[in-house]
Amino acid sequence: MSGAEDTGGGTSDAGGTRTVVGLRGVTKEYAGGVTALRGVDLTVAEGELLAIVGPSGSGKSTLLHIVGTLDRPTAGSVHIAGHDVAALSDRRLSALRAQHVGFVFQAFHLVPGVSARDNVAEGLLYSGLPRSVRRRRAAEALDRVGLADRLHHKPHQLSGGQKQRVAIARAVVGEPALLLADEPTGALDSASGAAVMELLRDLNREGATIAVITHDTEIAGSLPREVRIRDGEVVADVRNPSSVPSMAAGAEL
Ligand SMILES: Nc1ncnc2c1ncn2[C@@H]1O[C@H](COP(=O)(O)OP(=O)(O)OP(=O)(O)O)[C@@H](O)[C@H]1O
Ligand SMILES: [Mg+2]
Repeated sequence: MSGAEDTGGGTSDAGGTRTVVGLRGVTKEYAGGVTALRGVDLTVAEGELLAIVGPSGSGKSTLLHIVGTLDRPTAGSVHIAGHDVAALSDRRLSALRAQHVGFVFQAFHLVPGVSARDNVAEGLLYSGLPRSVRRRRAAEALDRVGLADRLHHKPHQLSGGQKQRVAIARAVVGEPALLLADEPTGALDSASGAAVMELLRDLNREGATIAVITHDTEIAGSLPREVRIRDGEVVADVRNPSSVPSMAAGAEL
């Protein structure tokens, strides 16, 4: 690809399916001597909806941060939408992230003292859209997660589950091609959790590629693909034939 500012695109295999995420031999060592990932290979095609599961401390969040280009690996290669992340400057990487990636953090990371609506609108800060449009889209995204009546509440005035839903609204407001969610239902009751999963399925049907970390075996088993991590390694990568077909599976029929 020659366009220096073009952060779209991707690589295609012979069947024409684009690879959105390509990790090869990814290792992550943190200062202090913890090896969180050990030689992880992971390929995710456009339109997939996958669960990442594994015990606490197994490296799931670390993996998602590296896929989301929020962190760089100690060794190995990371390709996102056809771009070799190691070859991109921090500025280009920020642009890639802003245009294509939505991230739901395990710890929410909402801006304190700022309303739910403005927290969500922040997800569109680099979109080039005028402020009035960003605010309208933010209100719509909050409506989608059932928080239309909490637009003006600040994080400290929201329950844990409501904060989680604001974080989800912020991640999806820009309709990212790649959505990465770190336990998006962890703080939710089963009805709210089911509603969030339905939203993710809707976004997937609309074309988004989605990876969801979950401890909920029922959720994991209901998704088309399940990647299991243990001690920093991928120990299983299974397709669930009984799940609702994702875009990618449907496209192959
Ligand atoms: N910034 C950091 N510095 C040092 N060690 C870290 C850092 N972040 C994570 N670790 C360590 O790396 C390992 C993997 O952490 P990670 O957060 O990826 O686990 P996880 O699978 O997401 O766990 P959980 O299910 O509890 O969220 C853990 O042993 C953790 O202590
Ligand atoms: Mg985690």
